[in-house]
Amino acid sequence: MSSLGFQYIFNSFYILVIDLGYLSKCLLIATCVGQSTHSQEYQSTSLLLGGQYEYILVEKRGENQDVGYIQLNRPKALNALCDGLMLELGKALDAFEADGTVGAIVLTGSDRAFAAGADIKEMQNRTFQECYAGNFLAHWNRVSTTRKPVIAAVNGFALGGGCELAMMCDIIFAGEKAQFGQPEILLGTIPGAGGTQRLTRAVGKSLAMEMVLTGDRITAQEAKQSGLVSKICPVDQLVSEAIKCGEKIAANSKIVSAMAKEAVNAAYELTLAEGNRLEKRLFHSTFATEDRKEGMTAFVEKRKANFKDQ
Ligand SMILES: *[C@@H]1O[C@H](CO)[C@@H](O)[C@H](O)[C@H]1NC(C)=O
Repeated sequence: MSSLGFQYIFNSFYILVIDLGYLSKCLLIATCVGQSTHSQEYQSTSLLLGGQYEYILVEKRGENQDVGYIQLNRPKALNALCDGLMLELGKALDAFEADGTVGAIVLTGSDRAFAAGADIKEMQNRTFQECYAGNFLAHWNRVSTTRKPVIAAVNGFALGGGCELAMMCDIIFAGEKAQFGQPEILLGTIPGAGGTQRLTRAVGKSLAMEMVLTGDRITAQEAKQSGLVSKICPVDQLVSEAIKCGEKIAANSKIVSAMAKEAVNAAYELTLAEGNRLEKRLFHSTFATEDRKEGMTAFVEKRKANFKDQ
């Protein structure tokens, strides 16, 4: 199918179903057809990026260029998460992790979609044996193993794998028109990249069950109310707000930020007593850093701290 043909079908499809309950399902199915535009997307983005990335845009932002910026960029497929995109995302995260000037990372999509789902075409004919033997989706958790703080800036749809991807980030900011959902049940399957676990921890059992069992989406306002996101911004200010947050984080000691992130994440894995013990050990560890000494000395001397990430 030509990309033009696809675009036409997709747009009319999109408009037709926009108010129906099974929008999410239609999107998930529709996005996979977007694969047919793959070669065209490749040509335009590879020219811009010297061929390094096909599905994402990567740059450094912020006044001091200390915020890593990754934009999912499969516009015609509403950023459906295909395997190639997830592998590129992993590579970009590796590069930012290794870059000593980067103190935080912002992950975003387009105004219309953060990511509308996984690429269903890639899954349609998979067997249980293939999924199990290949540990299907195992490498999709790369974002959650990133040691530097990651902020998701979500405009538009964050559905299925898109919602799971946002939840792997440390902080989620939502644009006013953002929508979150786990519609896998409508396709006869369940979330497979952490959706049942991270959503439940974020919003509580009743809302998580409702979303996972009905496939219904929630708005940015409901997401804020339930604790899934920490801030709502106007659509056109979302990314700059996320970058601003990233700059604040990047201005602190990177080594101490990593300890703070490790400690907060432990709250999801450990009992209260074990978590408090880990926190205490990490807190004590900050006293082994030069940045802790500089931070407290600057406070006492009433001046701004100058952290060296040491
Ligand atoms: C999956 O199998 C069906 C039936 O054999 C076939 O029509 C379809 O094209 C296949 N899908 C993909 C993505 O290969």
